[in-house]
Amino acid sequence: MTSDPITHVLVPGTFDPITFGHMDVVARARRICPRVTVAVAESLGKNGVGTTFSLDERVALAKQALGHLDGVDVQPFCGLLVDFARQIGAGAVVKGLRAMTDFEYELQQAGLNNRLDPDLESIFVMSNPSYGYLSSSVVRQIASFGGDVSEFVPPCVAAALKERFAQ
Ligand code: PNS
Repeated sequence: MTSDPITHVLVPGTFDPITFGHMDVVARARRICPRVTVAVAESLGKNGVGTTFSLDERVALAKQALGHLDGVDVQPFCGLLVDFARQIGAGAVVKGLRAMTDFEYELQQAGLNNRLDPDLESIFVMSNPSYGYLSSSVVRQIASFGGDVSEFVPPCVAAALKERFAQ
């Protein structure tokens, strides 16, 4: 196993769409590491269903939402996370944990990633309690019924949701 210090981390996810909860995790990852790549997965989300926004749309929204953070870039990826991490030279994956249900899923993902590449570290930050209930799926659900999502997502995402569900 490598002992190289980690100077570049990944914050991966489906980001369908990015929320204030994701943005909090990215900002905290940036506090602990000088370079952060937000890796937007092409693959299906954890429920195995398709996404509301295309990969290009999800990347564009994440870029708009995170544009104010130095040292943070947003990139799409497909295939295995460990391969993408190796390709861009990231040494760790950073994810947020909201509840025990997240823990079980993330433990499995971290275990698999460790088997696939023992040099890729997994780091978890506890979600800000203000966002403990927040997920992309609840935001999509509220927006789909015409509800106000402005306290959960940045204005660019709220506008994109409004447009998507007006169709
Ligand atoms: O937003 P999510 O659903 O928590 O993101 C999950 C994601 C995209 C990080 C995860 O599904 C992933 O890493 N997908 C890429 C494929 C992969 O490497 N899977 C882990 C080993 S099976």
